Order: sequence, then structure tokens, then C-alpha cells
Amino acid sequence: EEQNRELKERLLQLKKERNAIILAHYYQRDEIQEIADFRGDSFLLAQKAAETDADVIVFCGVHFMGESAKILAPNKTVIIPDERAGCPMADMVNVDGLRELKKQHPNAKVVAYINTSADVKAETDICCTSANALKVVNSVDSDEIIWVPDKNLGDYVSKFTNKKMIIWEGYCNTHDMLTVKDVEEMKQLHPNAQFVVHPECRPEVVAMGDFVGSTTAIIKYCRESDCQEFIVGTEDGTGYQLRMDSPNKQFYFATKYLVCPNMKVNNLKKVVRCLETMKPEIHVPQEIADQARLSLERMLQVK
Ligand code: 13P
Ligand code: SF4
Repeated sequence: EEQNRELKERLLQLKKERNAIILAHYYQRDEIQEIADFRGDSFLLAQKAAETDADVIVFCGVHFMGESAKILAPNKTVIIPDERAGCPMADMVNVDGLRELKKQHPNAKVVAYINTSADVKAETDICCTSANALKVVNSVDSDEIIWVPDKNLGDYVSKFTNKKMIIWEGYCNTHDMLTVKDVEEMKQLHPNAQFVVHPECRPEVVAMGDFVGSTTAIIKYCRESDCQEFIVGTEDGTGYQLRMDSPNKQFYFATKYLVCPNMKVNNLKKVVRCLETMKPEIHVPQEIADQARLSLERMLQVK
């Protein structure tokens, strides 16, 4: 308690000195979401990074998010609490593999989930997040789409579009772990609860959803719904915002394993330390950043 109070005071002071803002993904620890200037999903945080007039962005999330912030705001200093916070899904696709697929499908346009590295984005026509995936796919002027890297989100989107989707075999270790049996068991325990689920989960689990949507869409749905109980099929950090919006509703996470270990690498202490030392800092080689920026900016322009 006492230590937390001191850390928070130090943080406020450093934020002012450095003219910094703190962006935190909904999957971060509560102690980080509490002190963030903006909490959000990957789409909102990318937007905030592109718009801010702060000098320093502290990006509390995983590596590709900090990298996207740097690409969108090349003149800002972007620092992260711990460089070991990666995203295993983003690491499932690399440039060589993507180039090979492009060669096999020369007429296809590439849509990449924002969960990719900068060099993959540089080989991409347009990025998307789970919040705008369908809109982005439908906005592309090609009937053929190469989709990287999430097969589960790709499968979900393909059900709502006429475009031919060539889908990479990546997945999120955390969301993909949730099974039909897990959800059935929870439904038995909580028969009046609605099941809300992120499309990074397996297709057969997504099919059980009373509501399917990105992290932000799930938060909005639960806030506005008349239902009082929810079984939640996304990462457990989301509970912070869910409970804050609706303190009288019940939220049951579908299993205790819906925790992204990478997101949890960051903590309040590391946030303060990175602002103190201004390290680790995100750098993206200019040539790659300039290419990757096009795919991110195209995404931000899709209405
Ligand atoms: P969203 O923030 O787009 O819902 O993405 C989920 C996710 O897994 C981020 O790492
Ligand atoms: Fe990557 Fe999944 Fe963790 Fe998001 S929740 S950072 S997609 S591993």
C-alpha cells in the first residue's frame, strides 16, 4: 500500500517532467490500468498514439503495440516497461513466409492484424484490429485477401464477407486455449449468464457466444445490456473495466487460464522505472517504419 502510494506520486512527478502520457491495454494489471491516461483496446491506443501531443508515450501492452505507436508517432519517444513482453501470435508470421504466400497469390491484397511485427506490416497493404477487421476486409479493392496471422479471427471474418480469404495458421495462445467443455461447465454453474466472447477464440467456442466482439465491443455490450451476469471469453484484465462500468453485475471468466502472461510481465514498478531511465525505448528502422506506416494509416482512415 505505502509503496504503491509512493510509486504513484513519483509517477505523477515524472509524467509532468517528461511531458509523458501512459497508454494501457485492457489486458494490463489493474495497478497499471489505474494510473493510465488512456485505457483501451489495440485500435483505440493506436489512435491515441497517433494523435497525442505529449513528448513521450509510455506504452503498457506488448511489444508490437509500442512499435505501432512509434511508427504512427515517429517524432515521439516511445518507451515500454519491459522489452520481454512480446506477443507469441505476432511471432507466428515472418516476412519470408509472407513474401512466399504473396508470390503464390499475386492478385491478393494483404490484411495484417495489428498483432504483427513492423517488418511484416511493411509487407502489408492494410492493418486491422479485432474491432474493425470486417470493415477493413470489405474496404480492400480485391476479391482475394491474404490474412495474417490469426486463423480464428480470420475464420470469423470469412463468415461475413464474400471475399476469398487465404488464412495464415497463427493463433493467440491465451484465447485459443478456451474449449467448448470449459464454456459448457460455466454455463451449468451460471445458467442465467450470457456468454460474451472474443473472436480470437476457436470457431466452435465463438459459435457458442451470445455476443461476439473485440475487447472494447465486449465491454460496451456488457455495460449496455440488461443482463446482470456474464461468462467472459477474453483475457482477465478486461475485468477491471467491466467491473468499473457495472459494479452490480457479475462477471465470471470462462476459465482461470484466460491470462496472457506477456501482458502481465509489466507492473507499476516497471512503469515508473522506465520513465525514470527512459529505457527500454522502441526504435524502428526508418525504411521499415515508412512502409509500415502506410498500412496503419490506411486502417485509421477506414470509416
Ligand atoms: P483487441 O485489443 O483488439 O481486442 O485485441 C486483443 C488482443 O489480444 C490484444 O493483444
Ligand atoms: Fe498476443 Fe494473445 Fe497476449 Fe494478445 S492476448 S498479446 S494476442 S498472446
